[in-house]
Amino acid sequence: MIWPAEAIWEAVSPLLPGFTVEILPEIDSTNTELMRRARAGQIEPVLLVAERQTAGRGRLGRDWSSDAEAQGRTLTFSLGLVLAPVDWSGLSLAVGLSVVQSLHPQLRLKWPNDVWLGDRKVAGILIETASVGQDRYVVIGIGINIVAPDAEGMRTPPAGLREVLPGVQAPDVLLHIMHPLVQAIQRFAVQGFAPLVAAYGARDVLAGREVVCSDGLIGAARGVDASGALLVHTAAGVKKISSAEVSVRPVALGDVQPR
Ligand code: BTN
Repeated sequence: MIWPAEAIWEAVSPLLPGFTVEILPEIDSTNTELMRRARAGQIEPVLLVAERQTAGRGRLGRDWSSDAEAQGRTLTFSLGLVLAPVDWSGLSLAVGLSVVQSLHPQLRLKWPNDVWLGDRKVAGILIETASVGQDRYVVIGIGINIVAPDAEGMRTPPAGLREVLPGVQAPDVLLHIMHPLVQAIQRFAVQGFAPLVAAYGARDVLAGREVVCSDGLIGAARGVDASGALLVHTAAGVKKISSAEVSVRPVALGDVQPR
């Protein structure tokens, strides 16, 4: 595959001095690699793209699989940079928002950081941080299905970007999203999530829907607050969900006994 590494570098390096772009045919996980490098003291801004991950990771300890046949069918990359935001809360929402805004009006966000098309997942975001001396290094990992992978064993059936962008290729998608993404992250660092609440609301797939949380809470999702916490109206009042450890899903028809 031919990657527009130079064009991405030209677009992004004015925003991020010292920025480099690295494309690897294979690695265990782009997030794992950048976290390893950070722990070894390497904290220069970098975009690491892998054509194949052998141990891709998702949120909550889940796998993000991309097998050999998947080459070109998924886009997997991580952006690593030092960041000192006024407040970290809402970063993953700001990242997801930038990605959907860059790509297609029909894409929606499923709190806290999935990209959905209809009721199917197209992309996931995994954000990790490491303390390096006085600095905090953040690794923003994004996996985007260009073509929907095999749905076997998945609770949420996946979708692919080509359903709304016919013929699109992983390198075009990467070039398209990188500059606005870095800008959005830098704006977030200064302003926090609050200015993005309305824009998030316009893409919020859960808004107004019955949701069930992994901690047993059930209620109606009512958007997010200025810190990016999900607001859930329950019989006992409004609950704010901000824990990254909680997963939330819309109550589906046929959900007899939600857990
Ligand atoms: C999720 O849906 O739970 C998050 C998925 C994040 C996957 C991306 S692919 C690039 C980066 N490297 C990883 O191992 N994970 C992220």
